[in-house]
Amino acid sequence: MADAGPTVLITGANRGIGLEYAKQLSAAGYTVIGTARNPAGADELDVVADRVEQLDVTDPDSVAALARKLEGVPIDILINNAGIFERGDVTIDAVDYDMLERTLQVNTLGPLRVTQALLPNLRQGKLKTIVSMSSQLGSIENSNGRWYAYRASKSALNQFNKIWSVELGPEGFICVVLHPGWVRTDMGGPNATYTLEESVAGLVEVIEGLGPRNNGRFYDFKGEPIPW
Ligand SMILES: NC(=O)c1ccc[n+]([C@@H]2O[C@H](COP(=O)([O-])OP(=O)(O)OC[C@H]3O[C@@H](n4cnc5c(N)ncnc54)[C@H](OP(=O)(O)O)[C@@H]3O)[C@@H](O)[C@H]2O)c1
Repeated sequence: MADAGPTVLITGANRGIGLEYAKQLSAAGYTVIGTARNPAGADELDVVADRVEQLDVTDPDSVAALARKLEGVPIDILINNAGIFERGDVTIDAVDYDMLERTLQVNTLGPLRVTQALLPNLRQGKLKTIVSMSSQLGSIENSNGRWYAYRASKSALNQFNKIWSVELGPEGFICVVLHPGWVRTDMGGPNATYTLEESVAGLVEVIEGLGPRNNGRFYDFKGEPIPW
Protein backbone atom coordinates (compact mmCIF):
# COMPACT_ATOMS: atom_id res chain seq x y z
CA MET A 1 0.00 0.00 0.00
CA ALA A 2 1.29 3.49 -0.88
CA ASP A 3 2.21 5.79 2.00
CA ALA A 4 -0.55 8.24 2.95
CA GLY A 5 0.24 11.75 1.69
CA PRO A 6 1.11 14.62 3.98
CA THR A 7 -1.54 15.66 6.49
CA VAL A 8 -2.94 19.17 6.11
CA LEU A 9 -5.32 20.97 8.46
CA ILE A 10 -7.35 23.79 6.90
CA THR A 11 -9.41 26.29 8.92
CA GLY A 12 -12.61 27.70 7.42
CA ALA A 13 -12.73 24.78 4.99
CA ASN A 14 -16.51 24.64 4.45
CA ARG A 15 -16.60 27.21 1.62
CA GLY A 16 -14.51 29.49 -0.56
CA ILE A 17 -10.73 29.14 -0.71
CA GLY A 18 -10.62 26.73 2.26
CA LEU A 19 -13.01 24.29 0.57
CA GLU A 20 -11.11 24.53 -2.71
CA TYR A 21 -7.85 23.78 -0.85
CA ALA A 22 -9.56 20.71 0.63
CA LYS A 23 -10.74 19.57 -2.82
CA GLN A 24 -7.41 20.05 -4.60
CA LEU A 25 -5.21 18.69 -1.80
CA SER A 26 -7.44 15.66 -1.30
CA ALA A 27 -7.32 14.95 -5.06
CA ALA A 28 -3.51 15.23 -4.86
CA GLY A 29 -3.36 12.50 -2.18
CA TYR A 30 -3.05 14.60 0.99
CA THR A 31 -4.83 13.55 4.16
CA VAL A 32 -7.19 16.48 4.72
CA ILE A 33 -8.50 17.60 8.09
CA GLY A 34 -11.03 20.33 7.33
CA THR A 35 -12.48 22.50 10.05
CA ALA A 36 -15.73 24.43 10.05
CA ARG A 37 -17.63 26.55 12.57
CA ASN A 38 -20.67 24.43 11.80
CA PRO A 39 -19.62 20.95 10.61
CA ALA A 40 -23.27 19.85 10.30
CA GLY A 41 -23.63 22.29 7.38
CA ALA A 42 -20.32 21.39 5.72
CA ASP A 43 -21.70 18.91 3.18
CA GLU A 44 -19.22 19.62 0.38
CA LEU A 45 -16.29 19.41 2.79
CA ASP A 46 -17.61 16.10 4.14
CA VAL A 47 -17.29 14.56 0.70
CA VAL A 48 -13.61 15.44 0.20
CA ALA A 49 -12.05 15.61 3.68
CA ASP A 50 -10.70 12.62 5.59
CA ARG A 51 -11.84 14.26 8.78
CA VAL A 52 -14.09 17.24 9.58
CA GLU A 53 -13.76 18.98 12.93
CA GLN A 54 -15.55 21.88 14.61
CA LEU A 55 -13.49 25.05 15.00
CA ASP A 56 -14.35 28.66 15.66
CA VAL A 57 -10.96 30.36 15.65
CA THR A 58 -12.21 33.14 17.95
CA ASP A 59 -13.33 30.73 20.66
CA PRO A 60 -10.53 29.52 22.97
CA ASP A 61 -12.68 26.56 24.14
CA SER A 62 -13.26 25.45 20.56
CA VAL A 63 -9.53 25.72 19.79
CA ALA A 64 -8.62 23.78 22.96
CA ALA A 65 -11.21 21.07 22.15
CA LEU A 66 -9.72 20.64 18.67
CA ALA A 67 -6.21 20.34 20.10
CA ARG A 68 -7.45 17.67 22.55
CA LYS A 69 -9.16 15.68 19.78
CA LEU A 70 -6.02 15.79 17.64
CA GLU A 71 -3.59 14.95 20.42
CA GLY A 72 -0.82 12.74 19.00
CA VAL A 73 -1.87 13.29 15.35
CA PRO A 74 1.06 14.65 13.32
CA ILE A 75 0.14 17.60 11.05
CA ASP A 76 2.51 18.44 8.20
CA ILE A 77 0.87 21.65 6.97
CA LEU A 78 -1.44 24.05 8.80
CA ILE A 79 -3.39 26.43 6.58
CA ASN A 80 -4.74 29.36 8.59
CA ASN A 81 -7.43 30.27 6.07
CA ALA A 82 -10.51 31.38 8.05
CA GLY A 83 -11.07 35.10 7.65
CA ILE A 84 -13.63 37.89 7.44
CA PHE A 85 -13.77 41.16 5.52
CA GLU A 86 -16.50 43.52 6.68
CA ARG A 87 -16.85 46.65 4.58
CA GLY A 88 -17.68 50.17 5.66
CA ASP A 89 -14.71 51.58 7.57
CA VAL A 90 -13.16 53.50 4.70
CA THR A 91 -12.68 56.87 6.39
CA ILE A 92 -11.53 57.80 9.88
CA ASP A 93 -15.05 59.02 10.71
CA ALA A 94 -16.46 55.62 9.78
CA VAL A 95 -14.15 53.52 11.96
CA ASP A 96 -16.28 51.00 13.82
CA TYR A 97 -14.49 49.70 16.91
CA ASP A 98 -16.69 46.61 17.18
CA MET A 99 -15.87 45.72 13.58
CA LEU A 100 -12.20 46.31 14.26
CA GLU A 101 -12.29 43.97 17.26
CA ARG A 102 -14.26 41.27 15.39
CA THR A 103 -11.84 41.40 12.46
CA LEU A 104 -8.73 41.22 14.62
CA GLN A 105 -10.24 38.30 16.57
CA VAL A 106 -10.79 36.23 13.41
CA ASN A 107 -7.98 37.30 11.08
CA THR A 108 -5.14 37.92 13.53
CA LEU A 109 -5.71 36.38 16.96
CA GLY A 110 -7.41 33.35 15.37
CA PRO A 111 -4.33 32.16 13.45
CA LEU A 112 -2.17 32.82 16.53
CA ARG A 113 -4.46 30.75 18.77
CA VAL A 114 -4.71 27.89 16.30
CA THR A 115 -0.97 27.83 15.55
CA GLN A 116 -0.14 27.87 19.26
CA ALA A 117 -2.61 25.07 20.05
CA LEU A 118 -1.51 22.82 17.17
CA LEU A 119 2.22 23.37 17.57
CA PRO A 120 2.73 19.93 19.20
CA ASN A 121 1.06 18.33 16.14
CA LEU A 122 3.15 20.42 13.73
CA ARG A 123 6.32 19.51 15.62
CA GLN A 124 5.44 15.84 15.07
CA GLY A 125 4.83 16.44 11.35
CA LYS A 126 7.54 16.05 8.71
CA LEU A 127 6.98 19.27 6.74
CA LYS A 128 6.54 21.71 9.65
CA THR A 129 4.82 24.22 7.39
CA ILE A 130 2.53 27.03 8.54
CA VAL A 131 0.67 28.85 5.76
CA SER A 132 -1.46 31.83 6.74
CA MET A 133 -3.82 33.41 4.23
CA SER A 134 -3.02 37.09 4.25
CA SER A 135 -3.88 39.69 1.61
CA GLN A 136 -2.25 42.21 -0.63
CA LEU A 137 -4.39 44.67 1.38
CA GLY A 138 -2.15 43.91 4.37
CA SER A 139 0.89 45.32 2.57
CA ILE A 140 1.75 48.66 4.21
CA GLU A 141 4.03 49.60 1.33
CA ASN A 142 1.31 49.09 -1.31
CA SER A 143 -1.54 50.58 0.74
CA ASN A 144 -3.69 53.25 -0.85
CA GLY A 145 -5.79 53.69 2.28
CA ARG A 146 -9.33 52.58 3.31
CA TRP A 147 -10.49 49.46 5.20
CA TYR A 148 -8.92 50.04 8.58
CA ALA A 149 -9.95 46.73 10.11
CA TYR A 150 -9.12 44.32 7.32
CA ARG A 151 -5.83 45.93 6.31
CA ALA A 152 -4.60 46.20 9.91
CA SER A 153 -5.64 42.63 10.70
CA LYS A 154 -3.60 41.24 7.80
CA SER A 155 -0.59 43.51 8.45
CA ALA A 156 -0.51 42.24 12.04
CA LEU A 157 -0.89 38.65 10.82
CA ASN A 158 2.14 39.24 8.60
CA GLN A 159 4.09 40.32 11.67
CA PHE A 160 3.03 37.18 13.58
CA ASN A 161 4.23 35.14 10.62
CA LYS A 162 7.61 36.85 10.75
CA ILE A 163 7.89 36.24 14.49
CA TRP A 164 7.01 32.53 14.03
CA SER A 165 9.60 32.24 11.26
CA VAL A 166 12.33 33.58 13.55
CA GLU A 167 11.20 31.61 16.60
CA LEU A 168 10.43 28.28 14.90
CA GLY A 169 12.79 28.42 11.90
CA PRO A 170 15.65 26.82 13.89
CA GLU A 171 13.38 23.79 14.45
CA GLY A 172 12.94 23.42 10.70
CA PHE A 173 9.63 25.25 10.36
CA ILE A 174 8.66 27.14 7.22
CA CYS A 175 6.14 29.91 7.89
CA VAL A 176 4.69 31.96 5.04
CA VAL A 177 1.88 34.41 4.40
CA LEU A 178 0.15 34.08 1.03
CA HIS A 179 -2.14 36.35 -0.99
CA PRO A 180 -4.60 34.37 -3.13
CA GLY A 181 -5.27 37.13 -5.67
CA TRP A 182 -8.73 38.70 -5.88
CA VAL A 183 -10.87 35.57 -5.99
CA ARG A 184 -14.56 34.90 -6.76
CA THR A 185 -15.80 33.75 -3.35
CA ASP A 186 -18.44 35.11 -0.97
CA MET A 187 -15.70 37.45 0.28
CA GLY A 188 -14.21 38.39 -3.10
CA GLY A 189 -17.59 38.80 -4.83
CA PRO A 190 -18.61 37.95 -8.41
CA ASN A 191 -16.46 40.62 -10.08
CA ALA A 192 -13.16 39.32 -8.71
CA THR A 193 -10.35 38.56 -11.15
CA TYR A 194 -9.62 34.91 -10.48
CA THR A 195 -11.61 31.69 -10.20
CA LEU A 196 -11.21 29.57 -7.09
CA GLU A 197 -9.68 26.80 -9.16
CA GLU A 198 -6.89 28.95 -10.67
CA SER A 199 -6.07 30.74 -7.40
CA VAL A 200 -5.85 27.57 -5.33
CA ALA A 201 -3.95 25.66 -8.03
CA GLY A 202 -1.35 28.46 -7.84
CA LEU A 203 -1.33 28.46 -4.04
CA VAL A 204 -0.82 24.69 -3.93
CA GLU A 205 2.09 24.97 -6.37
CA VAL A 206 3.64 27.69 -4.17
CA ILE A 207 3.19 25.56 -1.03
CA GLU A 208 4.65 22.45 -2.67
CA GLY A 209 7.72 24.44 -3.76
CA LEU A 210 8.46 25.89 -0.31
CA GLY A 211 11.88 25.39 1.24
CA PRO A 212 13.89 26.92 4.11
CA ARG A 213 14.79 29.96 1.95
CA ASN A 214 11.09 30.94 1.88
CA ASN A 215 10.67 30.97 5.67
CA GLY A 216 9.12 34.23 6.89
CA ARG A 217 8.21 35.54 3.42
CA PHE A 218 5.04 36.98 1.81
CA TYR A 219 4.02 35.74 -1.67
CA ASP A 220 1.08 35.89 -4.03
CA PHE A 221 -0.51 32.80 -5.58
CA LYS A 222 1.91 32.98 -8.49
CA GLY A 223 4.91 32.83 -6.14
CA GLU A 224 5.78 36.52 -6.60
CA PRO A 225 7.06 38.24 -3.43
CA ILE A 226 4.84 41.03 -2.04
CA PRO A 227 6.45 44.02 -0.29
CA TRP A 228 5.65 44.37 3.40
N1 LIG B 1 -11.44 36.12 -1.78
C1 LIG B 1 -10.46 37.00 -1.96
O1 LIG B 1 -10.40 37.74 -2.96
C2 LIG B 1 -9.36 37.10 -0.94
C3 LIG B 1 -8.32 38.02 -1.19
C4 LIG B 1 -7.27 38.12 -0.26
C5 LIG B 1 -7.26 37.33 0.86
N2 LIG B 1 -8.29 36.45 1.09
C6 LIG B 1 -8.20 35.65 2.33
O2 LIG B 1 -8.38 34.27 2.04
C7 LIG B 1 -9.05 33.61 3.13
C8 LIG B 1 -10.28 32.88 2.61
O3 LIG B 1 -11.14 33.83 1.99
P1 LIG B 1 -12.46 33.42 1.17
O4 LIG B 1 -12.55 34.36 0.03
O5 LIG B 1 -12.51 31.97 0.95
O6 LIG B 1 -13.59 33.85 2.24
P2 LIG B 1 -15.10 33.32 2.43
O7 LIG B 1 -15.59 32.73 1.15
O8 LIG B 1 -15.84 34.46 3.03
O9 LIG B 1 -14.93 32.13 3.50
C9 LIG B 1 -14.46 32.45 4.79
C10 LIG B 1 -14.29 31.18 5.59
O10 LIG B 1 -13.81 31.56 6.89
C11 LIG B 1 -14.67 30.99 7.86
N3 LIG B 1 -14.74 31.76 9.11
C12 LIG B 1 -15.16 33.03 9.30
N4 LIG B 1 -15.11 33.35 10.62
C13 LIG B 1 -14.63 32.25 11.26
C14 LIG B 1 -14.36 31.92 12.60
N5 LIG B 1 -14.58 32.79 13.60
N6 LIG B 1 -13.87 30.69 12.90
C15 LIG B 1 -13.66 29.78 11.92
N7 LIG B 1 -13.94 30.00 10.63
C16 LIG B 1 -14.40 31.23 10.30
C17 LIG B 1 -16.04 30.92 7.19
O11 LIG B 1 -16.87 30.02 7.91
P3 LIG B 1 -18.51 30.22 7.96
O12 LIG B 1 -19.04 29.59 6.71
O13 LIG B 1 -18.89 29.52 9.21
O14 LIG B 1 -18.75 31.71 8.01
C18 LIG B 1 -15.61 30.42 5.82
O15 LIG B 1 -15.36 29.04 5.85
C19 LIG B 1 -9.36 34.71 4.14
O16 LIG B 1 -8.38 34.71 5.15
C20 LIG B 1 -9.30 35.98 3.32
O17 LIG B 1 -8.99 37.12 4.12
C21 LIG B 1 -9.33 36.32 0.23
